[in-house]
Amino acid sequence: MNGTERRVSEQLFHDRQAAERADTFRAGVADLRFDTDCFLDHETWVRPAFATLGDLRGKRALDYGCGHGMAAVAMARAGASVTAFDLSPGYVHEAQSRATANGVRVACVTADGEELPFANASFDAVWGNAILHHLDLAMAGRELRRVLKPGGVAVFCEPWGGNPLLNFARRSLPYRGKDRTPDEQPLTRRDLRPLRAVFPSVEVRGFQLLGMVRRVWRNRRALNLLDATDSRLLHAVPALGNWCRYVVIVLRAG
Ligand SMILES: C[S@@+](CC[C@H](N)C(=O)[O-])C[C@H]1O[C@@H](n2cnc3c(N)ncnc32)[C@H](O)[C@@H]1O
Repeated sequence: MNGTERRVSEQLFHDRQAAERADTFRAGVADLRFDTDCFLDHETWVRPAFATLGDLRGKRALDYGCGHGMAAVAMARAGASVTAFDLSPGYVHEAQSRATANGVRVACVTADGEELPFANASFDAVWGNAILHHLDLAMAGRELRRVLKPGGVAVFCEPWGGNPLLNFARRSLPYRGKDRTPDEQPLTRRDLRPLRAVFPSVEVRGFQLLGMVRRVWRNRRALNLLDATDSRLLHAVPALGNWCRYVVIVLRAG
């Protein structure tokens, strides 16, 4: 698939998904309202990743590949002036409706992450969740570096493909929320090379080593124990991050 075909396929897939979601918002505005803490705790990596953005008061922030736009709302609530973009007009509509429903201002635009319609050095902080692994990282990396201000930070939460057992499970097992576009692939160390070529600092932190069993088993007490064990293991041996389900990637513009 070439770049243009990939973008068309991504847009169609996500527009269809956004339309299916829109059909479920029967209570209108009430369905679009949400609590920031629920958003920050919906996966174990979100709260620590969001904290890495730092104090957002008075900052210009970008929700990169915003999808439903919850991160954009959370950043606006934290005091940032927020722009959100996505390739899918359907999702941009949802993000704009969500911002309005939650009483915050977010500038929502339809755009391609590989060719951003923003001036150089526009943003202090960039957030992205489950987006980089849809993109050509050489193109996206250059654009990110261009729009980030000196001293700015970009934080991405991405599925990680360093664990062969997990990759086998992803391919073979049926589980909730498995719907994927044909081109997306969990990232590997090799995929990050184009980011390392343009950013002076690229940090990668793993999340859910043992805790990834939550995809098929949801015993709250056991998961708390596994998450605490993960924290200790990953702190002691950061290289185990390569076996995790997700990573948080922190890019600093220097
Ligand atoms: C898995 S969803 C994640 C959405 C959202 N960030 C979240 O937290 O749920 C991937 C998103 O990437 C968007 N996307 C895919 N390719 C893109 C591109 N080239 N430029 C901008 N957005 C893109 C899709 O439309 C979709 O909304």
